[in-house]
Amino acid sequence: MQNGKKVALITGIGGQDGSYLAELLLDKGYLVRGIIRRASYPNTKRIDHLLAKYPNDHEEENSFILAYADLTDSQSLRKVIERFKPDEVYNLGAQSHVGISFDSPQSTININLMGTLNILEAVRQSGLPIRFYQASSSEMFGASPPPQNESTKFLPQSPYGIAKVGAFHLTRLYRDAYKIFASNGILFNHESPRRGLNFVTKKITQEIVKLVLGEKKEIVLGNLDAKRDWGFSKEYVEAMWKILQHNIPDDFVIATEETHTVRDFIKECFDLLGADYTKFIKTSGRYLRPAEVPALLGDSTKAKNILKWEPKVKFKELAKMMLEHDLNERGISLEEASIKIKNIENQKHGI
Ligand code: NAP
Ligand code: GDD
Repeated sequence: MQNGKKVALITGIGGQDGSYLAELLLDKGYLVRGIIRRASYPNTKRIDHLLAKYPNDHEEENSFILAYADLTDSQSLRKVIERFKPDEVYNLGAQSHVGISFDSPQSTININLMGTLNILEAVRQSGLPIRFYQASSSEMFGASPPPQNESTKFLPQSPYGIAKVGAFHLTRLYRDAYKIFASNGILFNHESPRRGLNFVTKKITQEIVKLVLGEKKEIVLGNLDAKRDWGFSKEYVEAMWKILQHNIPDDFVIATEETHTVRDFIKECFDLLGADYTKFIKTSGRYLRPAEVPALLGDSTKAKNILKWEPKVKFKELAKMMLEHDLNERGISLEEASIKIKNIENQKHGI
């Protein structure tokens, strides 16, 4: 606590979830601190509005402060914990792309697994009564058949998933062995207009905008049959906060309890424009992964009952929100996009 306000430290604050969580905690009156990595080009796009709103002159009483640190650098983590003395730590930092974890398995495991160990150790060594949140993932369930809940066996199918399983167990171990208030949120896929450009939902909505503007003729994707339980990031960060406000540390599945294929997401977006997706979609082995998670469908009964958390935004609303946002960003409405894409469709048929 500082001047009667709770202090939260967020790793991965510049990411999709980190940016929404920072907004939520600032609204709740927290002093928010975040770590960012040095980058050769700005990596604060998602939080620039917060940097503009709150002075970031490193005065310790400021509401919002960023500090340079890295999950793979344990000394840097010890320094930020010592400096900020947080009440709550949200460990969201990660190499979060499953496909890329096959190209770069060692750095994925260094950041996602060793990074979690580094920050847990910094918390433990500080001796402070910190509440710790670990960003665990439905990717840990891997090949286990749906529906998946807190009792489902982990059968990870990627270096990313394996690192997250290790980090999950480290969090559980630090809770049991050292009595640290350490909890896992096992979050199913969650998206938003702020989603990274190379995740499938955002790739689809961005590429549709390019089709509409005539900048591209087709969209090339990988496995269209994979099923995911897709929710809205802004609602999922509320669940993270609730997990740390619960009276005991515990693990919770957070999901919409709906599952849809990648093809369903494409069709939903094209249906919003009244166009036929089959005329525009190609598949390529380039986007297939060496191993795949076939189907994710969360059962979040425990979170509903204990945390009273329930999502409002489901699949259809999410697809519309993301597509409309990306079109609007380029100055086009859904209606204008619909006319344009139908013209392109007709031209393809020589009509
Ligand atoms: P994201 O947009 O990719 O954000 C990840 C953040 O981690 C970025 O700010 C990134 O910084 C930072 N980061 C990467 N390596 C780091 C390092 N070595 N040290 C410090 N920070 C580092 O991911 P997200 O979608 O917000 O997800 C947040 C967390 O939830 C991740 O741990 C992810 O694995 C997990 N998760 C996500 C989902 C989902 O569907 N979104 C589901 C389950 C779990 P740069 O900008 O500098 O790269
Ligand atoms: N990225 C991507 N690009 N995925 C594609 C593509 C493509 O061109 N074509 C098909 N897919 C398929 C993938 O093979 C996967 O089955 C599905 O679309 C979803 O891929 P992503 O959006 O990359 O997400 P993910 O499910 O692999 O991982 C996300 O969710 C996890 C939770 O289950 C990430 O956010 C992880 O960080 C998170 O832990």
